[in-house]
Amino acid sequence: MFSSLAVYTLLALQVCTISAFPAYQSLAGLTREELDAVTSSTPFVAPPPPPGPLADDSSKLVYDSAHPYQALRPGDQRGPCPALNTLASHGYIPRTGIATPAQIVTAVQEGLNLENSFARFLTYSTFLVNGNPLTNLMSIGDKTSATGPNPPKPATVSGLDTHNNCEGDTSMTREDAFFGDNHSFNEDRFQNFINFSNKYGAGKYNYTVAAQLRKFLIQDSIQNNPQFTLVSPRLFTAFAESVFPANFFIDGRDKSGQLSLTNARSFFQNMMFPPNFYRRDGAVSTTGQDIVINLNANFKPGFNAKGVNTFTVDPTSATLAQPCVRYVNFVNNNIKELYPNPTGTLKQALTINLQYLYEATVAAGDNCTQVFPYGH
Ligand code: HEM
Repeated sequence: MFSSLAVYTLLALQVCTISAFPAYQSLAGLTREELDAVTSSTPFVAPPPPPGPLADDSSKLVYDSAHPYQALRPGDQRGPCPALNTLASHGYIPRTGIATPAQIVTAVQEGLNLENSFARFLTYSTFLVNGNPLTNLMSIGDKTSATGPNPPKPATVSGLDTHNNCEGDTSMTREDAFFGDNHSFNEDRFQNFINFSNKYGAGKYNYTVAAQLRKFLIQDSIQNNPQFTLVSPRLFTAFAESVFPANFFIDGRDKSGQLSLTNARSFFQNMMFPPNFYRRDGAVSTTGQDIVINLNANFKPGFNAKGVNTFTVDPTSATLAQPCVRYVNFVNNNIKELYPNPTGTLKQALTINLQYLYEATVAAGDNCTQVFPYGH
């Protein structure tokens, strides 16, 4: 084990530009000359340590004069996360939608008051599978050349729209990937969100609505999506995201716990803070999730094995009660699949980001044993 500061200092001193990739076991279909042509021009940015918690996490105006809304320009990236989209529209995240992990952690804390260890875990896990470790940049939407030259395949560096890394089935306002568009706001699904809020929340979205809607969305996908899957790591984000609108999209001066549908649409569809919006008072993460889990206690991670209505439990998936199985499998399976044999600066960048990911589990109190897919 090593301290992230020591690793960072080492990397910062060591490298500014990659001269060549030392012997790759596989050249990913490229000739050595082609590979060197890509990597020799890739500026390597050593990832700095993640930001700590906010010094002051009280409620405050976040739709302020320093953060005006600006509409998308051609080429700007937006994706499946209504919070990151909104933060980019207001300049908390670069308006291009291309950001470093540290910028994302800072933005979700400053703009919405997401708790630090959760912000770090979510960001570094997402970054390790969807971002570019060589340039330290990730798209909050689609794959784009704006994140710089890619590491060799099978790495994808495809942004948050990538299916089944963090994005996945049963979203509240986005369709399952099987139906074509897994990242754009979908009015039909939002109407369903409204219907559930009317039925279970007297016209507002709250934890009770969140639990009922999650139950419905799982059943709906089992019945209609032949390729439905809900296993770790997506399993964890699906249950967390159910309570996020109630935890983060309500104005900080409103203590009712009831999200208005106007505010909901502002974030989900318009990617915009409601007028005069204050962030919540005090940092949180998944508060309220137990209510969603309790109503769905019978659900076990799994997938449709042979078309619709063939739900099959996947015993290899972490359950919601197994955060360390999630961490270990994510590192050893999801990340290693994309980066089977990294060397040189790519390996260094992955190692340091893996360290940041592990430290987030420590900060969250998960007490997991660290794994080192690329050695110590
Ligand atoms: C306060 C901070 C955040 C809030 C309030 C938030 C909220 C949400 C919500 C409500 C959804 C579900 C959208 C839907 O079901 O229609 C979502 C989706 C998503 N978020 Fe965030 N998010 C936050 C931070 C982050 C961070 C830090 C990341 C990663 C860097 C992230 C990545 C994603 C991704 C990949 C999805 C798509 C998952 C899906 O398939 O539904 N989010 N987010």
